Amino acid sequence: MPLPFIYETFVNGIPEWVPGWARDPWTLFQVVAVLGSLYLIKMYSSGRTNPAEKNMHGRVVMITGGTSGIGAATTRELASRGAQIVLLTRLPPSNPFLADYIGELRESTKNEMIYAEQVDLTSTHSIRQFATKWIDNSPPRRLDMIILCAATLIPPGKARTQTDEGIEEMWMVNYLANFHLLSILSPALRAQPFDRDVRVIIPTCSSYIASPPLTDALAKKQWSPKKAYARSKLALMVFGQALQKQLDVYKRPDGLPMNTRVFFVDPGLARTPGMRRWLTRGSILGLSVYLVSYFLPWLLLKSPEMGAQSILYAAMEASLVRGPGGKLIKECMEVDYARMEIKNEEVAKQLWEASEKLIEKTEKEQAALRALEKKAREENEKQKKEMEKKEEIEALAAAIKKGKKEAEKKPSRKQRKQANNS
Ligand SMILES: NC(=O)c1ccc[n+]([C@@H]2O[C@H](COP(=O)([O-])OP(=O)(O)OC[C@H]3O[C@@H](n4cnc5c(N)ncnc54)[C@H](OP(=O)(O)O)[C@@H]3O)[C@@H](O)[C@H]2O)c1
Repeated sequence: MPLPFIYETFVNGIPEWVPGWARDPWTLFQVVAVLGSLYLIKMYSSGRTNPAEKNMHGRVVMITGGTSGIGAATTRELASRGAQIVLLTRLPPSNPFLADYIGELRESTKNEMIYAEQVDLTSTHSIRQFATKWIDNSPPRRLDMIILCAATLIPPGKARTQTDEGIEEMWMVNYLANFHLLSILSPALRAQPFDRDVRVIIPTCSSYIASPPLTDALAKKQWSPKKAYARSKLALMVFGQALQKQLDVYKRPDGLPMNTRVFFVDPGLARTPGMRRWLTRGSILGLSVYLVSYFLPWLLLKSPEMGAQSILYAAMEASLVRGPGGKLIKECMEVDYARMEIKNEEVAKQLWEASEKLIEKTEKEQAALRALEKKAREENEKQKKEMEKKEEIEALAAAIKKGKKEAEKKPSRKQRKQANNS
């Protein structure tokens, strides 16, 4: 169609039906320039496409946040390449929405090996329950990759929130949950055979650059969603580096070098449910403005699929198995860190110790609470049973009494005989 049109225009001039403004070369130039600029902006903001390819058949990929946004796009791509997916979700696998999601994913990717395990990242107990169950297996379970996409971002202006266990929510979900999960799963990573390419992929965000120093506690008065989010991401990167070092110095029983590598990925800004909640401030009015001006987020932000490209690169790029782990990847290439403390061992040590302490304290408190709740439940149960027993005895006594009274009312055989004779 365009070729005959161009030919006709070239031979016979611009056709009659073309409107006047389109005949003016200057106007035409302006229109082409605007459309061209929009196209270039869209291409630039969409970012690079992952060039790496890898057969994922049979590889076990554990992923958090695999039900939404960038995590969901990553899951879909890896599942369609045949990976066995273990989704860690806060919903139980029996939840109808989750069951539907997995059913649809299995069907569209033609991969039946997609499962869900319930792990609520706001709960140290839930994380420990899952992770200890995972490592409690002999021989150790196959685990090729852990991708930590789950995160929470409280919109600006909203109040500080904390988990039921009393930990600031963004610190817990974005950092401490990952620390806790990886600390428990670390033996499972170390136990993988030496020829297995094991990767831990940690999505981060460029907001880490503006984080307050980790060595200064973030007091409630200074708290803001932006600071808390940035700080949780910086902590995640410091911890990830320290984990890589810990893995590197581990002496494998077979004497071979460690084969687990940690990679950090900055996916860029993407139109995900999390980003939408942040942009709309979590309000109906904000959502209305977002929908009316949807062209802008569409133009300037990546789709979740494009946001997943650097994660897929970190998951599949063959050259990453050569050389050390701990690399930061952005737009499908390695980039430098913008904060010195990410590689500072003293900061990492302080963070690690403080995190361990906080988890230990929280777990102890929660265990004591659960024990109290169990005791109260048992006491309730006991009281209920005693009440039931008492009611049963009372009912029995009443029945006996009633029986006796009726028996007393009944005339004797002799009395009945006399009555019959008279
Ligand atoms: N989007 C961006 O522009 C952007 C930019 C830079 C970095 N990142 C990073 O990229 C990653 C993915 O971001 P996204 O925007 O795609 O995220 P998202 O759409 O907000 O999804 C977050 C995921 O985390 C899960 N999650 C939250 N709290 C949880 C909890 N307590 N227990 C278990 N799971 C929980 C959510 O589960 P439910 O579905 O059950 O809520 C959801 O699957 C994050 O690490 C984010 O920091 C994103």
